[in-house]
Amino acid sequence: MDPAMVEEIVKVMENYQITVGHIEGVPLPSITCDAWDTIYGFQARGDDILIATYPKAGTTWMQEIVDLILQEGDAQKGRRAPCFIKVPFIDLVPPKPMPSGVELAQTMKSPRVLKTHLPINLLPPSFWEKNVKAVYVARNAKDCMVSYYYFQKMNKGLPPPGTWENYFSTFLSGDVPWGSWFDHVIGWGKAMDKHQILFIFYEDMIEDPMREIRKVTKFLGKDLSEEVLENIKYHTSFQAMKENPMANYTALPSAVMDQTISPFMRKGTVGDWRNHFTVAQNIIFDEEYKKKMEGSGLNFRTEL
Ligand code: A3P
Repeated sequence: MDPAMVEEIVKVMENYQITVGHIEGVPLPSITCDAWDTIYGFQARGDDILIATYPKAGTTWMQEIVDLILQEGDAQKGRRAPCFIKVPFIDLVPPKPMPSGVELAQTMKSPRVLKTHLPINLLPPSFWEKNVKAVYVARNAKDCMVSYYYFQKMNKGLPPPGTWENYFSTFLSGDVPWGSWFDHVIGWGKAMDKHQILFIFYEDMIEDPMREIRKVTKFLGKDLSEEVLENIKYHTSFQAMKENPMANYTALPSAVMDQTISPFMRKGTVGDWRNHFTVAQNIIFDEEYKKKMEGSGLNFRTEL
């Protein structure tokens, strides 16, 4: 990023007031609420590819996979810009000079890859009017919660999470930016029958990345050689992405994301919740999970 722009962003962040508003009862950053008409009126194109996730479910990982599929495994092309520029985040219209996802997307050539964390009921209707293909990545709620806790600590654009003990209740009640994990995964899961949505589990990507990359490739109607697929797997591994300045968010100044508090590419594992949940928290969580997920038809591997 150009140093003058970094300096300006640092200044803006000094005076930035983090607040959360609500749209139809869903907590969202106030910069989303304030620009809601623009965001909800977003004009999708028929050949867009939407990556939809609850925060911390593996969005950036899927962004890199989809982008490299479109670039036929050319890692050089994959590094043409930071992930937040090449895949606009349409939910945010931050203060200038930070790039607005909506504006970035409007000036992009097709096919565009776009990112959203919006629950399905708040997605701009043009996505379904244009029959856009969406890849939804879901991650088990316990690991999402842990990852989000660290993310809210280091991301100055989100409210600080408070203590782990408080955060546990806040997350469970859905009072975090983008709302309830349960509503999110259930809403997107139900929509699979009606729209072109590929539902992918983070845990499956960890278990067998090649198998999941193949699924995404097929869904996007591409036919890639074994060599290209291997290349995509290699360049989207946790270690490769952690070392890639275009994928690891180090292109953003620490005034936005302070990676000395917690790196964006933090652990990239399944089951880190075991290092954070107390026995009592785990019981409370499992009860809530059973109540909320019964009949959802979604099969999260909660035993991992
Ligand atoms: P942790 O905080 O558990 O490490 P998002 O992109 O939706 O914000 O999700 C970020 C989470 O995905 C972080 O989880 C990050 O480490 C993990 N992640 C990103 N790239 C990954 C990869 N290539 N392999 C495994 N995990 C990855």
